[in-house]
Amino acid sequence: MKEFRRNILITGGAGFIGSHVIRRFINNYPQYRIINADSLTYAGNLANLEDVKDASNYIFVKADICNFELMQDIFHKYNIDSVIHLAAESHVDRSIKDPFAFAHTNIMGTLNLLEAAKRTWKNSEAVNGEYRNLFYHVSTDEVYGDLDFDGTLFTESTAYDPHSPYSASKASSDHFVRAYHDTYNLPIVISNCSNNYGSHQFPEKLIPLFINNIRHNKPLPVYGKGENVRDWLWVNDHARAIDVIFHEGKIRETYNIGGFNEWTNIDLIKVIIKTVDRLLGRAEGTSDNLITYVTDRAGHDLRYAIDSTKLKNELGWKPSLQFEEGIEITVKWYLENQKWLDNVTSGDYQRYYDNMYRDR
Ligand code: NAD
Ligand code: DAU
Repeated sequence: MKEFRRNILITGGAGFIGSHVIRRFINNYPQYRIINADSLTYAGNLANLEDVKDASNYIFVKADICNFELMQDIFHKYNIDSVIHLAAESHVDRSIKDPFAFAHTNIMGTLNLLEAAKRTWKNSEAVNGEYRNLFYHVSTDEVYGDLDFDGTLFTESTAYDPHSPYSASKASSDHFVRAYHDTYNLPIVISNCSNNYGSHQFPEKLIPLFINNIRHNKPLPVYGKGENVRDWLWVNDHARAIDVIFHEGKIRETYNIGGFNEWTNIDLIKVIIKTVDRLLGRAEGTSDNLITYVTDRAGHDLRYAIDSTKLKNELGWKPSLQFEEGIEITVKWYLENQKWLDNVTSGDYQRYYDNMYRDR
């Protein structure tokens, strides 16, 4: 049997960002065994990993991070030496409707994983300056709250000030992760990233939702006046940043990841409309009338903008793609993968994989 150099548990690997991280690690590191633990909520879709599912260094386990015994079993069974933790409830609007689900998964689920890691890795001291174990927690810029239109940026030392139940749950999990280092010496690292865009994102989030709606001539619900600002990063650049931080990040450090790429929602929506119309061969302006201003999101954060200078200066990472190019690639992907979108919007993907994993 092949000996792997590392056994890496990646949680939430069937989701949007997780699937890109899994693909990257499977393909770039055949010497690592990747164990994907995902409970396949509505946001988890194994079709996202169809192209790598048979790789010899990949194992999928349908598992809920809220089940502590199961997490412990996975650590023992697969001899897990490091974790990249992405599993979460991730959609702000859902957190406003059901905050308990967010506290449950994002806080308790993270705590379970920390505790399982702590109990398994009893001797996580550095040998020759190198740790064998690492708990990498993937977090969000939303923990910092929001910014004014004054050019300021979130840095790693910005005070936490979360506003939504989603960001409050992520902030809490970040605090637990640091507490496990400070109290139990667990080797941890955290990154806080801005809004991601790219293929395989669940179409409840702005970009895939709007691409799909434009294609089907459905209204585009713009919250408030569309003036809120987000800082968009191509998901593959996030996956590459995670790779760099996993390998070269310093224990107990935090790294902000962002694209220096701020857009008001309404300007971004106009770019999406123009791109979809052009790629569908429609005349420019055809879909402009789909823009529909609706009641604002409760507690809607005004502006996010990340300063990722530390990551650039210390670990040499910077975004690889200009936004215009990234959006073109992304819109094309959704238009060419209508079946993926249809399966997701109809719920067929869940029925298919539910049957597959029913008795496991
Ligand atoms: P997603 O909603 O697309 O995927 C989440 C995945 O986690 C799904 O596969 C789901 O099945 C799984 N999951 C949920 N609850 C689980 C549980 N209890 N046990 C096991 N698996 C469970 O999310 P995403 O957008 O890919 O985000 C991934 C991570 O990155 C999250 O931690 C999120 O907070 C963070 N993040 C996201 C963004 C973004 O723009 N999407 C930006 C910064 C940080
Ligand atoms: O900043 C990182 C965060 O980005 C991640 O931590 C979250 O997991 C991720 O969902 C994302 O959060 P946002 O709330 O910024 O993303 P969303 O796509 O839901 O919304 C983007 C902006 O668009 C936001 O200002 C709300 C607005 N919006 C969104 C939807 C779904 C609309 O105007 N209409 C919509 O229908």
